[in-house]
Amino acid sequence: MDAVTTLALPHLHFAPAQNWLNDPNGLVHVDGVYHLFFQYNPYGSDHGHMSWGHATSEDLVHWTEHEVAIMCRDDEEIYSGSAVIDVDNTSGFGAPGEVPIVAVYTSASRPSRAQRQSLAYSTDWGRTWTTYAENPVLDRDSLEFRDPKVFRWTGGDEDYWVMVAVEAADRQVVIYRSDDLKSWHYLSTFGPAGAVGGVWECPDLFPLAVDGDPDDVHWVLLVSLYPGGKAGGSGTQYFIGRFDGVSFHSDVAPAPESDPHATQWLDYGRDCYAGVTFYGLPADERILIAWMSNWDYARVTPATPSRGAMTVARRLSLTRRADGGLHVRQEPVLPAGPVVASHADVELASAWHLPVPVPDVALIELSARFEWAEGFAARIRHGEAQQGGVVIRVERGVLMVDRTQASGQWHPSLASVEVAPLAGDHRVDLRIVLDRTSIEVFADDGTTVVTDLVYTDAGADAVTIEPLRGPAVVESLRIVDLTEA
Ligand code: FRU
Repeated sequence: MDAVTTLALPHLHFAPAQNWLNDPNGLVHVDGVYHLFFQYNPYGSDHGHMSWGHATSEDLVHWTEHEVAIMCRDDEEIYSGSAVIDVDNTSGFGAPGEVPIVAVYTSASRPSRAQRQSLAYSTDWGRTWTTYAENPVLDRDSLEFRDPKVFRWTGGDEDYWVMVAVEAADRQVVIYRSDDLKSWHYLSTFGPAGAVGGVWECPDLFPLAVDGDPDDVHWVLLVSLYPGGKAGGSGTQYFIGRFDGVSFHSDVAPAPESDPHATQWLDYGRDCYAGVTFYGLPADERILIAWMSNWDYARVTPATPSRGAMTVARRLSLTRRADGGLHVRQEPVLPAGPVVASHADVELASAWHLPVPVPDVALIELSARFEWAEGFAARIRHGEAQQGGVVIRVERGVLMVDRTQASGQWHPSLASVEVAPLAGDHRVDLRIVLDRTSIEVFADDGTTVVTDLVYTDAGADAVTIEPLRGPAVVESLRIVDLTEA
C-alpha cells in the first residue's frame, strides 16, 4: 500500500461531510445562490439508496451542505436529473405569484428496475422539496431511460420546455417537449454517434457563442459514456451542431465507430464524468460541474470520510482554434490567493528545482516554449529523492499526465498515463489546479483538459521542470497558494 494513509478532505472541490457521492444533479442558480444537488447515499459510502444530496454556494468555491433534498424509498432510488426555475408557474406547483423550482429526475424502481422520469418541486427557493403525487411523468417502458436535462427553448413565436435524456444501452439521446413539465411529447432521437463503447449517460444540450460573437452560436451536446471514455472507463464526449427546437444535428458527420480520434472529448483524464451545466444563468454564461471519479474504480477510492468529490466549477465557451476547428474551452472558477512564486523568461538547459514548496492547494500557471527541445517535463510533489509525484510531460503536439507514481494503488487503473492533443508544437500554456487528491490541467487556453485523481505523499511538495533533449524557455511561471482561499 502507498505511503498515504490519512487523506484530508478535498478543499477546492465539493465533497459531502460523509458517505458516497457521484453525479452532480439539478444545478440551478436562483436568487444569487448556486444550488448543487448530487447523487448521494445517505446511509453509507457505497453506491446505493441513491438520493439527491444538496449544497449551496455563492461563489462556486465555498459550499454549505444541507439536508437531503429528495430521499430514496424502498421501491425507488432517485437517479440523476436537472432542475429549472418555473418562472411562469407552468407546472402549477406554485400558488399564484409563487415561482416553483422544479426538479426532473429518474425514478429507478425497485425491484422492477424500470427507469422513468419524475418531478419534485420547491416553493421556498430550493430549500425543501416535495415529490409530485402523480409521478412518474414520462415512461418509455425502458430499463435504461435516464438522466433528464431540461431547459427552456425559445424560438420563433414558440417557447416550451425541452428534455434531453438517454436510452443508455442504445447509445441514444432522446428529446421531448412539454408546456407544463408534466406531460411530455416525443420530438427526436440523436445517435448512436461518436464514441459508443459504453452506455450513454447524463446528456446536456446548450448554445454557446463562438469567441463571444452572438451572431455565431452553435449548440453543444455533452454525452458521458461508460466504459469507452478516451482515457479508459468513464469519459465525456461532445458534439457541436445545431438545435432547431426539435432535433440536434452535428456540424460534422459524427465520427464512425472505427475512428475514435475524431471524437471531441471534454476531458482527456480519467476523473471528469457526468458533467452538466447550471440552469438560471444569463445567456452568455455557462458553468459546468462534473463528478471527479471513474466508474472503473469509484467504489474503491478511499472514503475520507466521504467517497467522491466534484471537479472545480468550469466556465464554458466555444472557440475557434488556430487549426480551424471549434472547441469547447473550460476556465476553472477559482478563488484568489497569494502569489508564492513568480518567474519570467527562465532559460532551462537542465532540470530546474523551484526554490519554493508547492502548497497543498494551488494554482500553477506555466507558459513555456521549446523550439530546440523535444519538450519538457514538470514533476510535481515528488519526494526528496526527486522521485514519485505526478509528472506532466509536454512534447510536440502532445500533453501527458502521468500519475503512475501518484496513484495510491487502490486499483490498477489508477496507475495511468493520460494523453491529450495540443494545438502547438513548440509552445504551451498550462493552468494546473492542484488539490490534495486531484490535479486538473487546463492546456491551450482551456481547450484541452486533463482531470485525474492523484494520491501523493503530501509534505514532500516540490516542482521540478526539466527540458527534454535540448533547451527550453519558461516564459512565465506563477504559483498561487489557495490553501486558505
Ligand atoms: C452516471 C449514472 C447515471 C445514473 C446515476 C446513478 O454516473 O450512472 O446514469 O442516473 O449515475 O447514480
